[in-house]
Amino acid sequence: MFKLAPSILAADFAKLGEQIALAEQAGADELHIDVMDGVFVPSISFGMPVIQSIRSASKMFFDVHLMITEPVRYLEEFVKAGADGITVHAEACGNLAATVRKVKELGVRVGVSIKPNTPISVLDEVASELDRVLVMTVEPGFGGQKLIPECVDKVKALVEYREERAAGFDIQVDGGIGLSNVKSVYEAGAEVFVAGTAVFRGDVAQNVKAFKEEIGVAD
Ligand code: DX5
Ligand code: ZN
Repeated sequence: MFKLAPSILAADFAKLGEQIALAEQAGADELHIDVMDGVFVPSISFGMPVIQSIRSASKMFFDVHLMITEPVRYLEEFVKAGADGITVHAEACGNLAATVRKVKELGVRVGVSIKPNTPISVLDEVASELDRVLVMTVEPGFGGQKLIPECVDKVKALVEYREERAAGFDIQVDGGIGLSNVKSVYEAGAEVFVAGTAVFRGDVAQNVKAFKEEIGVAD
């Protein structure tokens, strides 16, 4: 499986709707929405009102990546705003199992993300419940960083971990993904690819197509 999830963090916010439409028409599979609170990560991005506004502009799956402390406080609001899936950070949750349960109760897909230095074992108690595991390939907080190669080994380890447990989550990567590395990360076993800069800088439609061609799934 190969899915491309453009991250609007790198989009031009003055024409956000237009840019999302370009990505969608070109064949983007999901829309990746990075929410940052200035506490869990140093940066602040945007929140529910932006998601609510773009909801009516797109039919894509809204993949909301919460880089916020104790996301359990806001899950309901993000679902109301239009999230189809919510990914929380293992490091940001006092009670990860309860947070995962709450996302599921709200009827959307649930993911857990791990930072580059966080071991896969933090997933042990929730692995069987998850729809997605997001392996950060940079330190979360900013777009436009360089992929950390060690994180690709973590993707390989996660493929084995999933097999051992017969778990059903998909494997997503986020940070520094571009045409020069997407194939090797795909071969390592990642399935859902977030790309901000590599999609929204330059010709959006062309960029989306180039990703698909690189993997050989051009439609
Ligand atoms: C980083 C965010 C990413 C970011 C990716 O904290 O989670 O989604 O927007 O941007 P690029 O693709 O530019 O590294
Ligand atoms: Zn992200």
